[in-house]
Amino acid sequence: MSNAVIAATGLYTPQETLSNAELVETFNAYVERFNAANAAAIEAGEVQALAPSSVEFIEKASGIKSRHVMNKTGLVDPDVMRPVIPERPNDELSIMAEIGVAAARQAIEAWGKPASRIDAVICAASNMQRAYPAMAIEVQQALGIDGFAFDMNVACSSATFGVKTAADYIAAGARAVLMVNPEITSGHLNFRDRDSHFIFGDVATAVIVEAADQATPGQGWDILGTRLKTVFSNNIRNNFGFLNRAAPEGVGKADKLFVQEGRKVFREVVPMVAEMILAHAADLGLDTTGLKRLWLHQANVNMNELIGKRVLGREPTPQENVIILDEYANTSSAGSIIAFHTANGDFAPGEIGLICSFGAGYSAGTVFVKKR
Ligand code: COA
Repeated sequence: MSNAVIAATGLYTPQETLSNAELVETFNAYVERFNAANAAAIEAGEVQALAPSSVEFIEKASGIKSRHVMNKTGLVDPDVMRPVIPERPNDELSIMAEIGVAAARQAIEAWGKPASRIDAVICAASNMQRAYPAMAIEVQQALGIDGFAFDMNVACSSATFGVKTAADYIAAGARAVLMVNPEITSGHLNFRDRDSHFIFGDVATAVIVEAADQATPGQGWDILGTRLKTVFSNNIRNNFGFLNRAAPEGVGKADKLFVQEGRKVFREVVPMVAEMILAHAADLGLDTTGLKRLWLHQANVNMNELIGKRVLGREPTPQENVIILDEYANTSSAGSIIAFHTANGDFAPGEIGLICSFGAGYSAGTVFVKKR
């Protein structure tokens, strides 16, 4: 049985950015129009007036200052408020596969080996654009990879579940597995919902997991252990699916997009994840106070700080608890991989860190890694 190594990672960042100020300006224009159009009903107490959003609230509640998006024009138009991404013909690479391939190419270049050495491709993401054929198979074809590919969705935990799945294939004899996390979260976010319109951003990440006995000496990270956990909850939910259509604009269909009970999520997920990390570390014989770095799911700065404090047993420094929320917002499954990708260059051989994700399901995954 072969041990698994994270051999390389890649990151595709969409060019367009959307600041909190731009987001709030659009939202508040929508609110003004809604309240004006419904003035009589609001006056009569039949319709609830909408309240404006604020930049200060967003930054304080979430740590988010901006986000990257695949299409900005639709998002800043108060009459549209969703990404306008034309549907592509079936013989063109789909947009999810395209950004997954962009991240994968970067990972393959960093890896320094041909894609033909990859035996499987996993597209692990929250925000799937269609039912089938799997986006992973498109990525596989675009990169000229033999073997097999499939999509998997464990919401914001998809990447750690994907790394664990890849490590299992390595144990079963695969030479290398490519995992991509293309997240066009803007397609599933309700930009008319004041409680959540600011939460997400678009991005794609890629991870190559390789058999230790195949890996270039000194390259990458030994996977010391992986652990997965799920506990059913309705507090983060998206009912988009085969038996319904994407939410048309307006009231009553909001559950076909992302919805959450943010406070409950905060209260329930923080202890679940902190306990899981501590128990997993104890089983691996690791002292969490000695971890060099945490690359946590980028949900919310306050959540991440609380988990970081419980795991390290002290207030983590910004170097210890990587936060990329200010620039990227919550990018669902890709968040912990962006954090890992952008902040691991200073590790000496033998130093240990933790990649951890958590989200809807509830679901959570931990991956302890040691620099080779
Ligand atoms: N602009 C201005 N004010 C807003 C607002 C907005 N966009 N959204 C909510 N508010 C107001 C509310 O009306 C409320 O006002 P009140 O106290 O007068 O009633 C106040 O801000 C607090 O609202 P609340 O929804 O309780 O905010 P919160 O402090 O819990 O923060 C989240 C909201 C979502 C940021 C927070 O609950 C959270 O981080 N949850 C974790 C869940 C998460 O990140 N999930 C992502 C998927 S893993």
